[in-house]
Amino acid sequence: MPTTDKIIALSELSAWRQKMRAANRRVVVTNGVFDLMHRGHATYLEQAASLGDSLLVLVNDDASVTALKGPSRPIVSQDDRAAMVAALECVEAVSIFPGPVAADALRIAGPDVYVKGGDYTVDSLNREEFAALQACGSVIKILPMVPGCSTSNIVKKILTPQTLFGNTGKAATLDERLAPLFGRRSVREFLPRAVEQPEVAALLEAAMAAPSARASYPAEFIVLDDPQKRAAVAEFLPNGRFLAKAPLGIVVCGDLSRACHGELSYMIQDCSACIENLLVAAHLLGLGACWLGVHPNADRVANLKGYFHLPESVIPISAIALGWPAKTPPPRTNYDASQVHLNVW
Ligand SMILES: Cc1cc2nc3c(=O)[nH]c(=O)nc-3n(C[C@H](O)[C@H](O)[C@H](O)COP(=O)(O)O)c2cc1C
Repeated sequence: MPTTDKIIALSELSAWRQKMRAANRRVVVTNGVFDLMHRGHATYLEQAASLGDSLLVLVNDDASVTALKGPSRPIVSQDDRAAMVAALECVEAVSIFPGPVAADALRIAGPDVYVKGGDYTVDSLNREEFAALQACGSVIKILPMVPGCSTSNIVKKILTPQTLFGNTGKAATLDERLAPLFGRRSVREFLPRAVEQPEVAALLEAAMAAPSARASYPAEFIVLDDPQKRAAVAEFLPNGRFLAKAPLGIVVCGDLSRACHGELSYMIQDCSACIENLLVAAHLLGLGACWLGVHPNADRVANLKGYFHLPESVIPISAIALGWPAKTPPPRTNYDASQVHLNVW
């Protein structure tokens, strides 16, 4: 039978029931929401159908689903839900009923067998529905639900950050449009080729284009094109000795007296934004660069302050080694879905 012919208006249900009675068919009835059909629904309806000759499914209308399950439901409209149920071979008829209680529809349907799924017991059935079934002389059967299958679980899964934003961690596809960000990697080996003045100017412009709290712009930049100066600074940086072999170095400092509210944290955040801009700009220009940590290491801060005779309020935050890369690490992200939280922690 075509699916649409299986859907019967509630006003036609009584006539359908009489036809079944005349044909001496044992009618099985169940009712439910059937929002986002899943295997649990199909298994349950097949089992229900096996208990008689004709399975009638009463489907809650949209208003009753909202009343039962909340304002975000149903996801699928009543006509579509009814059509999906009707498309199952084991289902002979479907009727949409206004709810949330099915007692009136059950009285019209007059089940020989009434089937309910899941956690219900005969005692926990809705009392009005139970009374209607008793009046019809229905046999009541409770069928187990397929474990793990539920529309609520499907909805929850769709709404996880992993599903919405990607689940594959470091193997995630890197969006081509953001290639300059994924391609920026720390470069620690350089070709013996100078970085010329136009590139240096572009790097500094990029650095100073970074956001700054209250537009206070506290960052200061010491450009090291003198190899002796780079070698001297490298001596202060146990993890940045390779600065001595880089064709260019830039020490990024922050002037606390110009920081937003004079706060060290704002100053460091502003300087970090400049440093990241500079690193991405270097990559875009085909250069390689590496951030070399200075602050908050007290020795490194003191040594650089002393070496450059920095004013009291000026604090070195980092050094950057720069040059044309001898080795280019592959683009990557460190994306980790477990570090993403959707609306709540
Ligand atoms: C605050 C900070 C300090 C860093 N200090 C050093 C350093 O002293 N020496 C170094 O070789 N790399 C340093 N790095 C670079 C990191 O090791 C590097 O960014 C990290 O391993 C990730 O690799 P990637 O930059 O290639 O993505 C520093 C990075 C940051 C953000």
